[in-house]
Amino acid sequence: MPTVLSSSSSSSSSPSSVLRYLLIILLAFSSTNCIAKTTNATRKPRQLSVDYYARTCPQVDQLVGSVTSQQFKEAPVSAPATIRLFFHDCFVEGCDGSILISTKPGSKELAEKEAEDNKDLRVEGFQTVNKAKALVESKCPGVVSCADILAIAARDFIHLAGGPYYQVKKGRWDGRISMASRVGANIPRANFTLDQQLKLFNSKGLSLEDLVVLSGAHTIGFAHCKQFVSRLYNYKGTRQPDPAIDPRLLKALRMSCPPFGGNTDIVTPFDVTTPFVFDHAYYGNIEAKLGLLASDQALSLDPRTKPLVQQLGSNKLKFFQAFSQAMEKMGSIGVKRGRRHGEKRKDCSMHML
Ligand code: HEM
Repeated sequence: MPTVLSSSSSSSSSPSSVLRYLLIILLAFSSTNCIAKTTNATRKPRQLSVDYYARTCPQVDQLVGSVTSQQFKEAPVSAPATIRLFFHDCFVEGCDGSILISTKPGSKELAEKEAEDNKDLRVEGFQTVNKAKALVESKCPGVVSCADILAIAARDFIHLAGGPYYQVKKGRWDGRISMASRVGANIPRANFTLDQQLKLFNSKGLSLEDLVVLSGAHTIGFAHCKQFVSRLYNYKGTRQPDPAIDPRLLKALRMSCPPFGGNTDIVTPFDVTTPFVFDHAYYGNIEAKLGLLASDQALSLDPRTKPLVQQLGSNKLKFFQAFSQAMEKMGSIGVKRGRRHGEKRKDCSMHML
């Protein structure tokens, strides 16, 4: 635009010709705006795609992969840590990397990750994303979002731990909102009934089947005593343990988790036999009353979910296929596209502004 005006000023610099040019420019502007408005209004939101970075960072999966495989060797807990991190990211403000933001020094509003429900997210998940981001930035600066790196890293760890490999669709932008106050209502709790879990999952566009399938992620990782201690001694005020816990598991859990004053750092594996292996043992466990959380155990008790629990427990391939699809669905919750809605952070813990 300035070129047009300056070239015109040398050939015909009268005020009227300048005005004419301005008019043309104004008309051009308003007509492009009109086109932009109509196309924006009618255009469907662009979908995520596997080859989103084909031109700008074709090696992004390999770059993240080199970090995740190293991290898995050095600290296998990075696997459950990152898978859970991704879930907590997607359920609050959508899959937009908002969980990775640190509270601004001096800010009154705490960031998402400081919320009570996020306090136990392990540091290894954040470390993995930060390392991967640094490597990706060194090869393709300013191109790949933190949200996409988290999605890729979660997939890698599922596979590294023995689970399915699936293609990660990309194109998420990083969100500009990260508020602790928005977490509580969006993260399911260990004592949720099936109805409460379902209501929350439905509100994210996920079905009853997705809920059962995604809960299979609890085949890997650990939980703190406070998440299930209410089942061990005085379940729902009965002064008895939850009748849906196998007596041998109950005994073992009581040894590590006393009713009061226990070590708050102690964690127990979800899957007592293979806590670092991503398999379908979770379903067999909950069928055998070996579920750790009340929310897990509920899935094998309720007639709406029991048949699927049985199917997934007896068919690893079916679980792996269903899990891959459900992760893709979860990974597209509330996705942001474009500069108007998001940003591409250089440092995943800090907004660009
Ligand atoms: C369905 C409702 C869910 C509830 C109520 C729930 C609750 C929990 C709780 C209480 C913990 C233990 C946290 C701790 O004590 O440190 C946990 C851990 C975990 N959750 Fe979930 N979760 C749910 C769904 C999911 C989903 C959908 C995923 C992923 C797809 C997931 C992945 C994990 C993983 C991998 C861990 C282990 C983390 C670690 O060891 O660092 N969870 N979950």
